[in-house]
Amino acid sequence: MSTFPNRRLRRLRKSEKIRELVQETRLSVKDFICPVFIQEDLKEPVNIDSMPGIERFPIEKVNEEVGRISDLGIPAIMLFGLPSSKDDAGSSAYDENGIVQRAITEIRKNFGEKIAIMADVCLCQYTKSGHCGIIKDQKIDNDSSIETLANIAVSQAKVGVDVVSPSAMMDGQVMSIRKGLDDAGFSDVAIMSHSAKHRSAFYSPFRSAAECAPQFGDRKTYQVPFSNAREAMREVEMDVNEGADIIMIKPALAYLDLIAESKKRFNVPVSAYSVSGEYSLVKGAAKQGWIQENDVITEILYSIKRAGADMIVTYFAKSGAEILNE
Ligand code: PBG
Repeated sequence: MSTFPNRRLRRLRKSEKIRELVQETRLSVKDFICPVFIQEDLKEPVNIDSMPGIERFPIEKVNEEVGRISDLGIPAIMLFGLPSSKDDAGSSAYDENGIVQRAITEIRKNFGEKIAIMADVCLCQYTKSGHCGIIKDQKIDNDSSIETLANIAVSQAKVGVDVVSPSAMMDGQVMSIRKGLDDAGFSDVAIMSHSAKHRSAFYSPFRSAAECAPQFGDRKTYQVPFSNAREAMREVEMDVNEGADIIMIKPALAYLDLIAESKKRFNVPVSAYSVSGEYSLVKGAAKQGWIQENDVITEILYSIKRAGADMIVTYFAKSGAEILNE
């Protein structure tokens, strides 16, 4: 029999309305950033085999896709480009007529401020090596790479990007980009840095989506080892000190501890990138009929929010929005 006080947690689980009142974490369409792949020299959208339900779009179709995203109430997109040519300098990444630059121009012209335009700032889709930096003497050269990253950011700022999102994991990339933007008169363009981007096996579906797999070696000399939480916090701290407006933990689901820790330690917005492998695992299991897809998507997105993410870059943005809008 019960003694006083009679502790019963089930009192607050009794009915739907009471459960709603005591709900601690809320998930909203407004939390989502939707990735968009745009490919040069494409006529029609193509499905990405490794990421069922995700497509690459030609520039002519980008406004249709952004319209669908915007109509769902999603506030932001994250652009990734697939150029038709790659070279050692990654020059198609900062070409004023590059695929991402043209997409930004189109979207801005059509949508004004109706959607926030974010763009990836990296080299791996644009270099022959498939690495996120410039190669010198068979090595990834940090300091020439961060100059190039700044050039990419400035080229995107010129056509109206709102937020640049460096994902190369070069040291000093945020500082170099901030300085480049400020010197070019773009002090109002924000930086959302992939601060603690881990060397993760969860990226492989993306690498076939974006054709950016490294042609030799791997990304161990620049991405954070998944075993090192304190090193991840040093990455975040450096980015905050270099002027990052928003920091990011990537991937999300296997790194919830780092999302929670960043939220506690730093007073900047925390974003989480739920990466391609997180998406494809769910899609693959759902296709087999092993899980309830929508319930799993909902639970994953809530967990990322509960850990402390203020926003989530996710391939579930559109389906998550549909679930939430139901
Ligand atoms: C490369 C980049 C990668 C992702 C985003 N930008 C892949 C990598 O580092 O190999 C992965 C995103 C995903 O898996 O969804 N700059």
